[in-house]
Amino acid sequence: MPAVRAAASACATISTTCCTPSVPELERRGFSVQLECDDGLACDTYPGALAHLVTNLVTNSLTHAFDEGQRGSVRIGAAVEGEDVVLCHADDGKGIPPDALPHIFDPFFTTARAQGGTGLGLHIAFNAVVSGLAGAIAVACPPEGGTVFTIRFPRIHPDASQP
Ligand SMILES: Nc1ncnc2c1ncn2[C@@H]1O[C@H](COP(=O)(O)OP(=O)(O)O)[C@@H](O)[C@H]1O
Ligand SMILES: [Mg+2]
Repeated sequence: MPAVRAAASACATISTTCCTPSVPELERRGFSVQLECDDGLACDTYPGALAHLVTNLVTNSLTHAFDEGQRGSVRIGAAVEGEDVVLCHADDGKGIPPDALPHIFDPFFTTARAQGGTGLGLHIAFNAVVSGLAGAIAVACPPEGGTVFTIRFPRIHPDASQP
């Protein structure tokens, strides 16, 4: 992968990526964002892939999860589990209909074509996780509502063991 790998704080990358540029827009729309990261969580991986992932998930929560004027919350958690980092991105929006759920990572799948959706955001996020972070991504819509993405990737990328 032609990208820079770096020892990085996942927490810093997440907060820099998704919060700093988005805070004025989030505040204008009345959203709350909670970040729950293990203190000192550090990883040796591709920060660009992590940034792409978080940016696309946050953008989607803002774009698809809530109706205009509706307030909501987005919660992002990151914790170490064994050799892995487990990242959880959850919103309390309308969720994804069961018939759309199996297709959301497909390229060009969008329910928002008329609003300018390309259907590439989650395809890019999927590739960022699988090819960039050597991890896996899953989605669930719990019965109480909202959408939860769970991403698991090695804290030390396999490339780190190569000379
Ligand atoms: N947080 C979310 N809440 C509800 N629906 C979502 C959410 N994230 C993604 N989706 C659904 O997944 C589809 C695909 O997302 P994406 O690949 O980013 O394409 P786009 O944003 O261009 O529509 C969206 O059109 C939407 O139907
Ligand atoms: Mg999108």
